[in-house]
Amino acid sequence: MSENIYVLGIESSCDDTAAAVLCNNLVLSNVVAGQKVHEAYGGVVPELASRAHQQNIVPVVDAALKQAGISKSDLNAVAFTQGPGLLGSLLVGASFAKGLAKGMGIPAIGINHMQGHILAHFIDDANHQSPTFPFLALTISGGHTQIVRVDNYFDMTILGETIDDAIGEAFDKSGKLLHLGYPAGPEIDKRAKLGNAKAFSFPKPKVDGLNFSFSGLKTAILYFLQKETQTNPDFIDQHLNDICASIQYTIVEIVMDKLIKATKLTGINHVAIGGGVSANSGIREAVRSGENKYGWTTYIPKFEYTTDNAAMIGIAGQLKLKSGISGSNNLHVSARLKF
Ligand code: KG4
Ligand code: ZN
Repeated sequence: MSENIYVLGIESSCDDTAAAVLCNNLVLSNVVAGQKVHEAYGGVVPELASRAHQQNIVPVVDAALKQAGISKSDLNAVAFTQGPGLLGSLLVGASFAKGLAKGMGIPAIGINHMQGHILAHFIDDANHQSPTFPFLALTISGGHTQIVRVDNYFDMTILGETIDDAIGEAFDKSGKLLHLGYPAGPEIDKRAKLGNAKAFSFPKPKVDGLNFSFSGLKTAILYFLQKETQTNPDFIDQHLNDICASIQYTIVEIVMDKLIKATKLTGINHVAIGGGVSANSGIREAVRSGENKYGWTTYIPKFEYTTDNAAMIGIAGQLKLKSGISGSNNLHVSARLKF
């Protein structure tokens, strides 16, 4: 029997304060405190985010330990998000994690947030099969849009990423133009199901290789709405579901074009998706349809492990410990951490 290793994961890169406890690859607790304070601003306000992290971090970690049924003296290591993310937010989680680890005499392990999203696929889950190497990871959220080639747990190569807005921003900024609440992604998804995706057409960006661009789409939607509301001030209200369906259709097409290109270029047909936008029903359906259409094997983790969470940081910590590389990096936070 192998030994039980307990890792506390801490995630604070953006606007969620999260802590999780893993015993080996099994999640014992996964606690997330969101920050409602940003809703009024239509986007995350960095200064408010770090302040809220400071308020949340102690109760969130406490709840994670309690729900896991362990005390901090049982921990073997503390894994935390080193970057990329908002500097002030990262600092709160990192300082707490390093202080706790030092106090307990156990290692602190720095984790790249983007690698965490990908490694969430290796959390033990009876309903989810882990991908086999090599695979392609599509990480799509409010802060990121990446296609990554994954050859091993910590052997990853970014094949393409956004050159401007993240895909979640494309949803959220379009939603703002439609006077929807923040974040607008889930509402656009809901309305898209009720609308006609071919009602309006929006241009797809021309970006070389496997990179993405979403800022042009937002501008195109802005001009389209300005033009239509000039002649009909009620245009948005009258056509909201069709507009949402057409926007979502365009975004799904943009993603699928690149994903198909990536599988062709690499010859890899194992496709794993993650990040908050992977909740989108259009994207899920399109990626899954690749199984029949292109012979892909697709992997979609449980929703709570796909939005920002600390279980993904905990599993990355466990895998780093097992790979013997947990002490090999410096532990400074970096807003633009690369891997
Ligand atoms: O991963 P996440 O919780 O946080 C980070 O940004 O890292 O992702 C949040 C993003 C937001 O932009 C939100 O609008 C989007 O995910 N989102 C969705 C859906 N659910 C969440 N976008 C489209 N359709 C959805 N169903
Ligand atoms: Zn994220």
